[in-house]
Amino acid sequence: MYTQAMDTMKDGDPVKAVRSVDEVRLQEAFDARIDAGEFIEAKDWMPDHYRKTLVRQISQHAHSEIVGMLPEGNWITRAPTLKRKAILLAKVQDEGGHGLYLYAAAETLGTSRDQLFDALHSGRAKYSSIFNYPTLTWADMGTVGWLVDGAAIMNQVPICRCSYAPYARAMIRICREESFHQRQGYESLLTMMMRGTDAQKAMVQDAVDRWWWPSVMMFGPPDDQSPNSAQSMRWGIKRVSNDDLRQKFVDAAVEQARILGVTLPDPDLAWNEERQHWDFGAIDWAEFRAVLAGDGPCNRERLQARVDAWEEGAWVREAALAYAAKRHHNAIPMERAA
Ligand SMILES: [Fe+2]
Ligand SMILES: [Fe+2]
Repeated sequence: MYTQAMDTMKDGDPVKAVRSVDEVRLQEAFDARIDAGEFIEAKDWMPDHYRKTLVRQISQHAHSEIVGMLPEGNWITRAPTLKRKAILLAKVQDEGGHGLYLYAAAETLGTSRDQLFDALHSGRAKYSSIFNYPTLTWADMGTVGWLVDGAAIMNQVPICRCSYAPYARAMIRICREESFHQRQGYESLLTMMMRGTDAQKAMVQDAVDRWWWPSVMMFGPPDDQSPNSAQSMRWGIKRVSNDDLRQKFVDAAVEQARILGVTLPDPDLAWNEERQHWDFGAIDWAEFRAVLAGDGPCNRERLQARVDAWEEGAWVREAALAYAAKRHHNAIPMERAA
């Protein structure tokens, strides 16, 4: 059943009480391969819980890519120059492509794309909470590229070594493109900060003020409150912990903000000589949980946009099916003749 694939924790017991000798041997061989750092392919035996965890993670990731097209797609017609428009268009198309690679990777685990979309459209599946915030000005385009795609890269580079090979392969290509997304965003902000008017500089600072904390939250709950992390680390699905990734992101962003000439909205940011890292203030996890639970500024709007796109595309799916059926029908006499 599909909901089991999406929510393995609620379904409980991932390990069957009684297992055959064969299953125990298969499990041992699987564990040995994971320990040896080998990649698992779609046709290989894998424990149910590993499969379900991957379907959940890869599909959430795929949903995030296509929902992530919405806040930026909103600005394509309002880009200030032809160059910026072409860059933004390319970036939003990239995100659509990322969604496709990832849906295809999830399908290799035995869940159909219709099931994956149904989970998104019915609100059962989650996607990254960052995309439930609005993009209010042009400076949001640069800031999303710099901070949101920047955080995505930190999160995603370690997944290029994920133990499930189809996911790892998809991530290698995605990360290359994410790197371009981050650079175009930063370069756009740099242009406004170096050559812009005071009003444009203020617009950049305002966008950074709004996007900083949601970006820091993108790494998910602290390690001690992240229920699936330990098992995912054990399986080589997750390689670096949420808190370590978050720290790496903050350390990089502080220096980039300095060059840009913007202030990060955290009075507690301070260099810690002993840790050799930047300390940062407390994260508002109540806000994170509220947005994740559906009460962010744009949750309803984003979901509705995806449902509308699905419904408005019904005629395309019907036409494709009718065409496939016709080809199949026409092909039968020829096969018989052969
Ligand atoms: Fe992406
Ligand atoms: Fe991106």
